[in-house]
Amino acid sequence: MNVLVVGAGGQIGTELIPHLQKQYGQDNIIAADLKEDVVKRLKEGSIAITLDALDIKNYTEAIKKYKIDRIYNLVALLSATGENNPQLAWSVNMGALLNSLELAREFKCSVFTPSSIGAFGHSTPHNLTPQDTIMRPNTMYGVCKVSGELLSDYYYSRFGVDTRSVRFPGIISNGALPGGGTTDYAVEVFYDIIKKGHYTSPIPENSFMDMLYIPDALDACTQLMDADPSKLRHRNSFNVTAMSFTPEILFNEIKKRIPEAIFDYNVNPVKAEIASSWPDSMDDSCAREEWGWNPKWGLQEMIDDMICAIRKKNL
Ligand code: SER
Repeated sequence: MNVLVVGAGGQIGTELIPHLQKQYGQDNIIAADLKEDVVKRLKEGSIAITLDALDIKNYTEAIKKYKIDRIYNLVALLSATGENNPQLAWSVNMGALLNSLELAREFKCSVFTPSSIGAFGHSTPHNLTPQDTIMRPNTMYGVCKVSGELLSDYYYSRFGVDTRSVRFPGIISNGALPGGGTTDYAVEVFYDIIKKGHYTSPIPENSFMDMLYIPDALDACTQLMDADPSKLRHRNSFNVTAMSFTPEILFNEIKKRIPEAIFDYNVNPVKAEIASSWPDSMDDSCAREEWGWNPKWGLQEMIDDMICAIRKKNL
């Protein structure tokens, strides 16, 4: 199994590379990113190449050269950044996806492209959001995610391309930082509290959002792609979640461990509006039934692990 990860230098890719290496062997995983400095960092632990996923010629050459069987397309501008430049978000997010799907069709690869809680909007039921429900997002990021789900399902039904994906909630991790997302606060808070003892939240105290700790997110990436296709009634995309909390709940739990921590709020109206349009908690029972999704990290264990990992960085 030869696997190509495009957009490998981001929050998910940085940790997905070693996870895939463990599973499929060091020499079978190719990390690709647009930025030279990121590729230099990736080269320290893996085979890494500079690749713009929008450049179909170079993308084709990489697929051929490394005889790729599976593509993880992680190229994306996230929700808050997408609102600053919606046209760019559309061209990057959809351009990378269309190229990935076309190459998968031509070279018979399977494709994983994350969808997101961003695919939902105000008219979606917010509590225990069902797998199959109203999807009318209010952000360009969300428009791309719904379109991406549809396009991936189309490539499966029309051309038989093995496309699968999950709707990721906010992902909490301590490798590469996320950037430009609405759920980023749940990562930033740990860095700021450990470095400065103080965190100012851009998200209102009572705004619920689903979250996953990175080890569970990585398991979702590989478990779904290795699942028996005859068991999948859905493909693009499955709801997955492990916890749901508000800033207030998270900060109170951090305060129990670090009593001197100071939290306050300076709400960012764009992020607050996006957060309010997303589910408070998703129903992920289809993922559990169809491919055995079974997250292991809850809020308490995640907080303990994040504090420990970030303290070790000696910021
Ligand atoms: N983490 C993403 C964002 O906040 C959601 O998928 O944009």
